[in-house]
Amino acid sequence: MTQPSEVLDRLLVLEMVRVTEAAAMSASNLIGRGDEKAADAAAVEAMRAALNELKMDGTVVIGEGERDEAPMLYIGEKVGAAQGTGPKIDIALDPLEGTTITAKAGANALAVLAVAEEGNLLNAPDVYMDKIAVGPGYSPDIIDLDKSVEENVAAVAKEKGVKPGDLIVCVLDRPRHEKIISELRDIGCGIMLIPDGDVAGVIATTDPDTTVDMYMGSGGAPEGVLAAAALRCVGGQFKGRLLFRNDDERGRAHKWGIEDLDKIYDLKELAKGDCIFAATGVTHGSLLSGVKKLRGGTVTTESVVMRASSGTVRWVKSEHRPK
Ligand code: FBP
Repeated sequence: MTQPSEVLDRLLVLEMVRVTEAAAMSASNLIGRGDEKAADAAAVEAMRAALNELKMDGTVVIGEGERDEAPMLYIGEKVGAAQGTGPKIDIALDPLEGTTITAKAGANALAVLAVAEEGNLLNAPDVYMDKIAVGPGYSPDIIDLDKSVEENVAAVAKEKGVKPGDLIVCVLDRPRHEKIISELRDIGCGIMLIPDGDVAGVIATTDPDTTVDMYMGSGGAPEGVLAAAALRCVGGQFKGRLLFRNDDERGRAHKWGIEDLDKIYDLKELAKGDCIFAATGVTHGSLLSGVKKLRGGTVTTESVVMRASSGTVRWVKSEHRPK
């Protein structure tokens, strides 16, 4: 049982939704405009402004990149209106998870963030992470990155009480996943190939309506921490191992204090203690509806906010009327 954090005041739970709503609404102006950078910039600016209104002493631990790469919401940036006096909060954020999706008006782009007490979120370097996830209700450690695709699928299918080929596995559609995809095809599994957006892909395993049983494959490590924070709140299992393509990437890991480069991280090592996860849909998706602009200027948003210690999952539908 996760102990509630006094630092993560109840108020902060709902405040987080305002932050992801602001980012999503701003990015929505760029849906389908073919400009990934502009969409991301709009989300970043809005999320930063909203975070800076909150009475907290926040630090971005997962953000838009390192200080020399990102002008705003870079790793280490201090945010919040109570620096030095308010609660010390670490923030993992992705103001626009699915920049290409947004530019092409595809499905499942989200504005997401996770917050925890200082020191409780893994400072993941911006490298790839090998990921495997399954929804709630299975025996602990049923999934294992050191096991084969076949072994993992067989273990989950056995507990679900179905044939291995009956499982649906979500995988990012990338050439690097050719082997996983061909092994899944050999087993006969259904594969939900997604063009981008593996935070939504991992969370999909927790919702029977999506029909997704498992998530497999590599994607961004920062997105892995965000997805892990969500699963800490809603249930499910996730394992991640950082993948390094060169010495520069290994160097980044050392810089953030990661010594064991082959370590397999479990949920609680990615997001420890009490944490809050919030997301607002930018484009329509399996988890959340996207931002809608109605006649007369009203804008609607759909968000989810959840907290690990209480296990509460709140779905928030908002109408933002013109002033
Ligand atoms: P962006 O929103 O930053 O473009 O990330 C989208 C995404 O699909 C993530 O969900 C995923 O973790 C990562 O990119 C995969 O990286 P790549 O596109 O290099 O395979």
